[in-house]
Amino acid sequence: MPFTGVELACCLQVECPFVVAGGRFDRLCVGLVLGGDLEAEGVVEQVLLGGLEVDPSGAVSWACRALAQVRRGRTAGVPEDNSVEGVGGAGHYGRLARDFDRYWAYSPAFVAWMAGRITHALSLSPGDRIADIGAGTGLYAREVARAVRPAHPVVCADPSPAMLARLNSPSPYLAPLLASAEDVAEGRVDLPCERFDAVWLKEVVHHLADPARTLAGLSALLAPGGRLLVVMRPATLAYPLFPAALARFQESQPDPAEIAHHLRSAGLTTTLTYAEHELRIGLDRHCTMVRARYMSLLSTFSDGELEEGIQQIRAAHPGPELVFPDRFAFICARRC
Ligand SMILES: C[S@@+](CC[C@H](N)C(=O)[O-])C[C@H]1O[C@@H](n2cnc3c(N)ncnc32)[C@H](O)[C@@H]1O
Repeated sequence: MPFTGVELACCLQVECPFVVAGGRFDRLCVGLVLGGDLEAEGVVEQVLLGGLEVDPSGAVSWACRALAQVRRGRTAGVPEDNSVEGVGGAGHYGRLARDFDRYWAYSPAFVAWMAGRITHALSLSPGDRIADIGAGTGLYAREVARAVRPAHPVVCADPSPAMLARLNSPSPYLAPLLASAEDVAEGRVDLPCERFDAVWLKEVVHHLADPARTLAGLSALLAPGGRLLVVMRPATLAYPLFPAALARFQESQPDPAEIAHHLRSAGLTTTLTYAEHELRIGLDRHCTMVRARYMSLLSTFSDGELEEGIQQIRAAHPGPELVFPDRFAFICARRC
């Protein structure tokens, strides 16, 4: 199936170290003629691999494979109606990628708080081989790496090319990997090391089709003494969303105790703790975020349902600012 230049550009406009199934691209510099089918019009002008120019057709065939996977819904872990990318980047995260950090960072204090929690829970030190699975835009990996200064780049795995492309400027501390948790767990991608000392998944576990199996596969990648952290929201959310959204969240969100159980079944010892951070957000900004479907859950509502929901939010919260606790479960597991 031919790909349009726009779709290919979406996949290739990445100028940072890039790990793909076939190896690690140190820098991928690609120019494309946009529009029309790739077969007819897409032209890769230059690919620099480790500073050397290489045959661009290899890069094109990789991009085509990646897009083919994206078009198929990519992996078992990504249901069609909640695809991370969708055709031409039209899926939930493909649409959201550009605004993700703006919506989800909440505030520098929140990012620093969460990154500190991750660093502490995983007892990270510079010699650790670290992976952030479902890293998205690298919002937390970047902050964690800034604090830890790891000797090995943090592997930032995500199945959404659009999200990964937001990892931003080349960083010696981050190594993007276009792969789902399932790809990593089932050994379908080349990794820079055989075992990891620390792996985390933050707000990703609800996307896994078979969390027990995938978490077992990720657990098997831990070195002796290795740690795996799952950060997730509890099923009951104290968010200022409309009632139907809160109810749907509760129906679909896995129970943290169940996730801890899966990790124990995989042979790890676990601790489950909860922590919360107070969020303050303007009502108008919050309504804009809801309208933009900043949570994947909101992608399951129609435009009309969202507008009705926003009216309900405004009626329930008449003040200009919303103040509420963002509560997270931290499931920390360790291989003895
Ligand atoms: C809510 S975002 C969280 C991103 C990041 N962990 C953070 O906290 O900023 C969820 C991320 O999970 C990714 N994702 C969806 N399905 C996945 C899967 N099966 N395996 C790994 N990541 C997945 C999405 O592409 C998206 O980047």
